[in-house]
Amino acid sequence: MTNFKAYSSHSLNGSIKVPGDKSISHRSIMLGSIANGVTNVSGFLEGKDSLATLRAFQQMGVQIEKEGSNIAINGVGKHGLKSPTKPLDLGNSGTSIRLMTGLLSAQSFNSQLCGDESLSKRPMARVIEPLYMMGAKIDSYESKPPLSITGNQQLSAINYILPVASAQIKSCLLLAGLYAEGETCIVENSTTRDHTERMLRGFGYPVNISNGQISLMGGGELNACDIEVPSDISSAAFFIVAASIAKESDITLNAVNINPTRTGILDILDLMGANITLTDKRIVAGELVADIRVCSAELHGINIPHELVPLAIDEFPVIFIAASCATGETVLTGAKELRVKESDRIQVMADGLKVLGIEIEVLKDGIRIQGGEFSKQNSVIKSHQDHRISMSFAIASCRSEYDIRIEGVDNVQTSFPNFLELANKIGMNIEEI
Ligand code: S3P
Repeated sequence: MTNFKAYSSHSLNGSIKVPGDKSISHRSIMLGSIANGVTNVSGFLEGKDSLATLRAFQQMGVQIEKEGSNIAINGVGKHGLKSPTKPLDLGNSGTSIRLMTGLLSAQSFNSQLCGDESLSKRPMARVIEPLYMMGAKIDSYESKPPLSITGNQQLSAINYILPVASAQIKSCLLLAGLYAEGETCIVENSTTRDHTERMLRGFGYPVNISNGQISLMGGGELNACDIEVPSDISSAAFFIVAASIAKESDITLNAVNINPTRTGILDILDLMGANITLTDKRIVAGELVADIRVCSAELHGINIPHELVPLAIDEFPVIFIAASCATGETVLTGAKELRVKESDRIQVMADGLKVLGIEIEVLKDGIRIQGGEFSKQNSVIKSHQDHRISMSFAIASCRSEYDIRIEGVDNVQTSFPNFLELANKIGMNIEEI
């Protein structure tokens, strides 16, 4: 087991580029594999999660060449995937298993999808139930991985109102819908990340989007295209908070994806009084990108607006660190989804913040955080197999007088393999022990 020892640090400076977006990296492999022709991807995230997706498609006969973060996918067309000879192990990755359950439900062969201990606890009924309505056949114990999918089912389109704001459910059903008879229509009451819709269009597949309804006709084809993966705002988020809370800081994060379905973190920190400026906005491969400059600021507590919750869903662990350094109280409600991420992020963050000396109250669908000081010595935090917990508590060292030990940080490899290197480059002081 690897641990972090994060020493007190102040004054972050410099300019860095965080790795490619995880959501876009997964989707580039999935869509590139079922497209006709060669899809070239640059800036692919070389994290364990996206590499698990890559390997799974190789196991289904897709030739994928990888040179660092450049990937060439020799698409096999919508009906060209081959039956894998063993279960597809998707590690820690919820995005891989949920999206692939949709895609594999529509194939002519059987498949099994499994993952690590954390993934094996995550709810899959949210995709199994609507896929069942489309005609899919999926077996599992208590709707948790491993999942056994029986192929050769002709799927039919559905109209489906998402019961939870989830891009993973939406994307799963859109991927199944590519193979279904008729028009699949998904209705979302809250906006969630739209990378699947954007990328399908990039592959020449018509998708209609209006007033929260996303629809596509089954039976079309995808044509290969080139994809430049922008930097992941969910990874940038750690340093956006770090530079906001560390005194006398001024950092720039280059070419970060600022797709409006992902920028809840910027809106929340803005409401808290952060000093963030976006420059050189441009479109890269269908996604909006900008350089993000962050300077230190005196943050204040807020009530987090509900509509921002799905737009910042992965950033709450580090937002809780920001809230702990703010004056006054921050309240989050309407976020019970946080309880079923890689860990129960409400409880695990609450436990860790208490260890650091912060006053919190756990709510059933959120948390109440009283800004204060990380006042405890010899703090030991457990990551609970959750990469974003590991990295968030490392960021707390930007405002702590004492070292913080974070246990079980191998999981950082799932989404941000060079986190430590970049953190230390801008002036943090974290050691792997
Ligand atoms: C993701 C969607 C989100 C997010 C996850 C990645 C995606 O999950 O938490 O890290 O790539 O579609 P939900 O859509 O289930 O909230």
